[in-house]
Amino acid sequence: MAIRFDLLTLFPEMFDGPLNQSILKRAQDDGLVEIALHQLRDWASDRHKTVDDYPFGGGPGMVMKPEPLFTAVEEIQSLSQSRAEVILLTPQGRRLESSLVRELATLPRLLLICGRYEGVDERVRKHLVDREISIGDIVLSGGELPTLMLIDAVSRNIPGVLGAEDALIEESFDQNLLEYPQYTRPAKFRGWEVPDVLLSGHHARVADWRRQQRLLRTRSRRPDLLDGADLSDQEQIWLESEPIPIETLDAGERGPLD
Ligand SMILES: C[S@@+](CC[C@H](N)C(=O)[O-])C[C@H]1O[C@@H](n2cnc3c(N)ncnc32)[C@H](O)[C@@H]1O
Repeated sequence: MAIRFDLLTLFPEMFDGPLNQSILKRAQDDGLVEIALHQLRDWASDRHKTVDDYPFGGGPGMVMKPEPLFTAVEEIQSLSQSRAEVILLTPQGRRLESSLVRELATLPRLLLICGRYEGVDERVRKHLVDREISIGDIVLSGGELPTLMLIDAVSRNIPGVLGAEDALIEESFDQNLLEYPQYTRPAKFRGWEVPDVLLSGHHARVADWRRQQRLLRTRSRRPDLLDGADLSDQEQIWLESEPIPIETLDAGERGPLD
């Protein structure tokens, strides 16, 4: 099943590079992902193409006017048969995380509004938008980068976009666990060796090691995820008995790999 994204932005050029490389480019070439860019100024009614105005009540910055956004969204809705879910990118929205990404990937069409300035008139939020989504507790200058993140993450969940169907399995956040450590050649680099088990060719032992590493890594870095993870009783007991390694997230401070 394919997905269509309609993007409403003041800076369509910002999307040129990221949408035309690698996985996203291939997904569009294969007809699995369709992306339509729309310049919000095209819906401004005055000859200066004004899309923002001063905030009522005073204060710094400008606010995006409601009229161009409403007419744009209404017209863009009519461009395709399926109704788009209208999403406003805003730091005040629900945090984008993997269960939300998976849910969005089941929808046929998303219309993403990229805010700028101090954001949008409150009536847009209240009467035009279906959902508000944030990419994290930081304020960026515009909704374009958050939109790119959302498109990238959602597209990975469209069947066929990633070459191998199982590529999402055991990735970080799948089953509420982080991914296991990955190594490639050489087996010994600057004295740091790859764990023996990965060189053993023994698939069952490799699978066991990876599962254990996922559990240990999640416990040390993101213990909050473990509440939603499905651990067997045996795994639970094993994890509780494993000492917590002295580990730092700063790779520069790490010692030789064990
Ligand atoms: C400078 S921000 C406006 C922030 C707004 N004044 C506030 O305090 O909530 C301009 C635009 O960038 C986008 N934006 C900024 N940070 C974001 C985030 N964490 N997630 C999603 N969109 C964000 C939104 O579209 C927002 O309208």
